Amino acid sequence: MLALVTGASKGIGKATVQLLMREGYKVVATSRTEPEVGDYRFRLDVSNRAEVESLIAKVRNEIGEIDAVVNNAGFGVYGSFLETSLEEEEYMVKTNFLGPIYVTKSIYPVMVKRRSGSIVNVVSEAAYVNSPVLLVYSATKAGLASFTNGLWAEARKYGVKVSGVYPGPVKTNFSSHPSFKGREITPKYAVEPEKVAKAILKGIRTGKREIYVPSKLKLDPYFLKLANVMQELTYRLVDKFSV
Ligand SMILES: NC(=O)c1ccc[n+]([C@@H]2O[C@H](COP(=O)([O-])OP(=O)(O)OC[C@H]3O[C@@H](n4cnc5c(N)ncnc54)[C@H](OP(=O)(O)O)[C@@H]3O)[C@@H](O)[C@H]2O)c1
Repeated sequence: MLALVTGASKGIGKATVQLLMREGYKVVATSRTEPEVGDYRFRLDVSNRAEVESLIAKVRNEIGEIDAVVNNAGFGVYGSFLETSLEEEEYMVKTNFLGPIYVTKSIYPVMVKRRSGSIVNVVSEAAYVNSPVLLVYSATKAGLASFTNGLWAEARKYGVKVSGVYPGPVKTNFSSHPSFKGREITPKYAVEPEKVAKAILKGIRTGKREIYVPSKLKLDPYFLKLANVMQELTYRLVDKFSV
């Protein structure tokens, strides 16, 4: 079985490559800097559609057809919407949201023809928890969650498994982006990347639509709905009774 992992140079991606190799997969590992682990290692910036298409064509021609894809590459820009840079945000949208779409568009049609394959997207708790300091990041992940859920519904007709993995805080280099400027946000209860890698493997095997890490985070979407209702109610009350 051949798997392709994006964002494989560190963190969750690296742990996933290691786990998949232990489980007997041949792994194509990709990231902007050359990954240290993987049977085949390539430099790939997922925000660049031409680079994605050309690398996947190369893998197909020179290595073989991809059985499992893990769309993991991603990063966050920290700060209020007033202080963050639009250039960084554009690059983040291309990396976190369009990157998985570019990769999936290059691989999914062949999976459909073969009536087999797995696509796992590494989303985030941020898809359902609106953080004012990771605002556009949360939006990229909400978009990725929507894409993943839609594709899950379509792909099951063709025997292709699609899964979204939703981690809370994980002990990785995520806060190393310059915008964090020492405001690292890796709380004590953050999980190890290996735990997320296990969830990714579960996603590849089962095609479960949403997998939360840790599992109690599955309540997040309900809390978000409740919070939005409460916010609307509060604004209505303020409008009604303010002079
Ligand atoms: N850590 C958390 O708390 C957390 C929580 C929920 C979800 N996530 C998600 O988990 C995924 C992995 O993040 P991580 O926590 O493992 O962070 P990380 O340690 O910073 O790893 C991010 C990986 O993505 C790669 N990457 C970034 N931009 C890229 C691009 N344009 N093209 C290709 N590769 C790119 C990086 O490698 P190069 O720099 O070499 O390209 C690196 O391998 C991300 O999608 C993130 O949003 C993380």
